[in-house]
Amino acid sequence: MAGEVNYPDYLALDELLGLQRPRSTPEHPDELLFIVVHQASELWFKVIIQQLRALIDELKRGDVERALWHVQRVNTLMRIVAEQLSSLDTLPPQRFLQFRNFLGSSSGQQSIQFRVIGALSGMRDDAFVSALKAAGTVPASIQEALDVPRLEDLFVDLAANRGRTVESLYTGPGPDPLFFLAEALLEYDQAFQRWRFLHVQLVERIIGPMTGGTGGTLGAKYLSQSVTQRFFPKLWALRAKLVVPT
Ligand code: HEM
Repeated sequence: MAGEVNYPDYLALDELLGLQRPRSTPEHPDELLFIVVHQASELWFKVIIQQLRALIDELKRGDVERALWHVQRVNTLMRIVAEQLSSLDTLPPQRFLQFRNFLGSSSGQQSIQFRVIGALSGMRDDAFVSALKAAGTVPASIQEALDVPRLEDLFVDLAANRGRTVESLYTGPGPDPLFFLAEALLEYDQAFQRWRFLHVQLVERIIGPMTGGTGGTLGAKYLSQSVTQRFFPKLWALRAKLVVPT
């Protein structure tokens, strides 16, 4: 019966609230925030992956309306994940250093879900794939995501099945649902790049531009290389073609 389930049970709050385990001794008062922002981001990543899978199925089926719904949801979630980073802007660098050693070699670079999102969204470039292979055996969830067609290719195929080129959505008689889907996908690129930018800015603010990360990279310098990475290069490129030189 519905009445048997209560709020703490339904949300497994005992387990959930027991999962924040600061490593610093004595416990540093800022480590809880640091852990929660990471854990909350991973929870949102979990939902984003689920929504991306739904989106992929819809693009394959040619269901434009539902695909639009799911991209818009993913875009909202990416904005939430990005905005959370700002709470760590209140972590003074000298205080982060007081517990940084307790993190050992743990780093966001080891986030499998983050890589799954990249792979599901269409990242296939050599740097992405070779970095995965260099880190050892590619985890099954990432390999599975790499085996799915790229989001952009699915969208181009969907348009082609309706007799449209992507360019024609921007030059035809007027905005139609396919055009709005293209724009929502572009917004996803924007939202993801914004996360990358805010993250690199945060890293620079807390450990500086050249300090190596706990994951062993060159830190902000390494991260800034990927800020311009895009999932939908064709959607970006077509804009230049629309501009007629005067
Ligand atoms: C004090 C705050 C933070 C600092 C100083 C920081 C630092 C870094 C550094 C230096 C890297 C490069 C890899 C390495 O050498 O470790 C990195 C990567 C990463 N971090 Fe953070 N980070 C912070 C907060 C966050 C948060 C809240 C998340 C949310 C999940 C996050 C997720 C990631 C991800 C996914 C990567 C891999 C990015 C990529 O390879 O493109 N980080 N972080």
